[in-house]
Amino acid sequence: PVEYSLRPRYLSEYIGQAQAKENLKVYIEAAKQREEALDHVLLYGPPGLGKTTLSNIIANELGVNIRTTSGPAIERPGDLAAILTNLQENDVLFIDEIHRLNRSVEEVLYPAMEDYALDIIIGKGPSARSVRLDLPPFTLIGATTRVGLLSSPLRDRFGVVSRLEYYTVDELSFIVSRAADIMQVHIDEEASIEIGRRSRGTPRIANRLLKRVRDFAQVKGDGRITTELAEASLERLQVDPLGLDHIDHKMLEAIIKSFRGGPVGLDTIAATIGEESQTIEDVYEPYLLQIGFLQRTPRGRMVTAAAYHHLGLAMPKD
Ligand code: ADE
Repeated sequence: PVEYSLRPRYLSEYIGQAQAKENLKVYIEAAKQREEALDHVLLYGPPGLGKTTLSNIIANELGVNIRTTSGPAIERPGDLAAILTNLQENDVLFIDEIHRLNRSVEEVLYPAMEDYALDIIIGKGPSARSVRLDLPPFTLIGATTRVGLLSSPLRDRFGVVSRLEYYTVDELSFIVSRAADIMQVHIDEEASIEIGRRSRGTPRIANRLLKRVRDFAQVKGDGRITTELAEASLERLQVDPLGLDHIDHKMLEAIIKSFRGGPVGLDTIAATIGEESQTIEDVYEPYLLQIGFLQRTPRGRMVTAAAYHHLGLAMPKD
């Protein structure tokens, strides 16, 4: 078995997100020159666009340690206090799904972010008092798919707020070529473009499709990923030419067939196709909105003419 990591480790290896990357490069350089902790960073956007990867790169470029955790993993204020007091100067603390932190934990985070301090309550009842404990300077990197669910006091404490965007087909095919290189498998340029085209703007999907296509190449072909082999494999993976999978199709068809194209509420759609509302809202809907197949209206979701056309279905007359 060959050990490899597809994750880039430096900004120079990281493809796409030009704006976020260029700005971060400046902030990292400035913080290093001043020998200070980088200001707190909030990364948001749809899943699979590289929030975790970018956080690891930031720590790596700063030359500091990274401690990784997630909103739901930090159950009590004491859990967070334990993490914070174990950081070294200028380290990065990465909290994924930061919108899922509970209130009491969030309140510990405010003075930690603002003053690098921890307020601890000692004792109980009338004799209880608060003691302030200094923390080493650190950088909090928060990541979320749902920036609207962050409380404003928390959001306001991030000095750098960066929205990650869907990748272009060119960027994705570049990522696929780079990954194939690392995996030491040959891929035709046309094949990497085809995988890029069908990855719904998302590197995580591109790398997953590449691995499955490589399996077909290895077992059904001569190990090389040709355009023909890539197309046949993607067909078998039920990924259509725009990257829509069977759940996207099920959702669009349900709205069209059961609700005359909408408008229909998210929960109704979820119940009809047997998926979680949350998954639809975080994973499926953002891309369908992005490519203009779905619209959000005050009365619910509507399928657009472009989606009817893609599915080869006729629109209702009215
Ligand atoms: N692998 C996954 N995401 C990547 C990116 N943005 N750049 C390079 N390789 C990647």
